[in-house]
Amino acid sequence: MDRDNFYFIIWAWVFLGMAVFVLLQFVTAPYGRHSRKNWGPVIPNRTGWFIMEFPVLLVFVLCYLLGPSNPHPVTWIFFALFTAHYINRSVIYPWRTHTAGKTMPLVVALMAVLFNVVNGFINGYYFSAFSREYTWEWLTDARFIIGAIVFAAGILINWWSDQILIDLRKGGKKGYFIPRGKLFKYVSCPNFFGEILEWTGFAILTWSPAALAFALWTFFNLVPRALDHHRWYRSTFPDYPPQRKAVIPFIL
Ligand SMILES: NC(=O)c1ccc[n+]([C@@H]2O[C@H](COP(=O)([O-])OP(=O)(O)OC[C@H]3O[C@@H](n4cnc5c(N)ncnc54)[C@H](OP(=O)(O)O)[C@@H]3O)[C@@H](O)[C@H]2O)c1
Repeated sequence: MDRDNFYFIIWAWVFLGMAVFVLLQFVTAPYGRHSRKNWGPVIPNRTGWFIMEFPVLLVFVLCYLLGPSNPHPVTWIFFALFTAHYINRSVIYPWRTHTAGKTMPLVVALMAVLFNVVNGFINGYYFSAFSREYTWEWLTDARFIIGAIVFAAGILINWWSDQILIDLRKGGKKGYFIPRGKLFKYVSCPNFFGEILEWTGFAILTWSPAALAFALWTFFNLVPRALDHHRWYRSTFPDYPPQRKAVIPFIL
């Protein structure tokens, strides 16, 4: 595929992401606490997470390995970061959540598969097709260094926050509680803030339109979800800390 066609796919994908962002201002994605019965057949949560997240790993790895060029060693670093995230998200994370007995609509899982497959394709193909545009000098470029710091901060915040949420149901507890500690002091959804930072860092450290499209989609998906969670917390817990923002500390 030539560069123009490939870039056209990327920008069309970003445009679709913007439309989804607008739609999500009016429709609450029906999984987790916002699950609803009127979205058709359901599947177990854990299976849903695997179905949603594993394809991105598969598609990314296949597009990278079978893509048009022999990857430069620098892009193997990008490969390692991307795959490490998705091994955690698709295989490890679902087994750590306390989600037994919970379900999600099949249609939500299938929509997420589409999102993940396209992102896996765009990123895997980009790092193969344009791999030779990176050189060893890239590792000392300010963009790589700043991006790596933002990526690492994002992944830490995401993991810490996911861990605090998982621990809320330790000892067989069910239901929802007010999360506290670390960045929960400032926002209702620091796990989403971490995820957004992580992929923004990845976009900076790779300086690629493919990773930028992914970072934007992450923002388009998670900001509306964070706003929905935040409203839900406020209406569910009368003693919810009033100073907390939804997702971006001190701002949103
Ligand atoms: N890149 C992307 O576009 C993207 C999209 C979606 C998710 N993600 C990532 O995937 C991870 C999970 O996403 P999510 O939407 O499921 O996050 P979430 O709504 O915050 O839920 C995370 C887990 O914690 C539980 N939980 C959340 N708040 C709780 C509370 N107050 N009390 C007790 N348990 C609570 C949830 O249980 P329930 O399921 O029962 O609510 C779920 O098992 C996050 O790290 C997120 O960043 C990324």
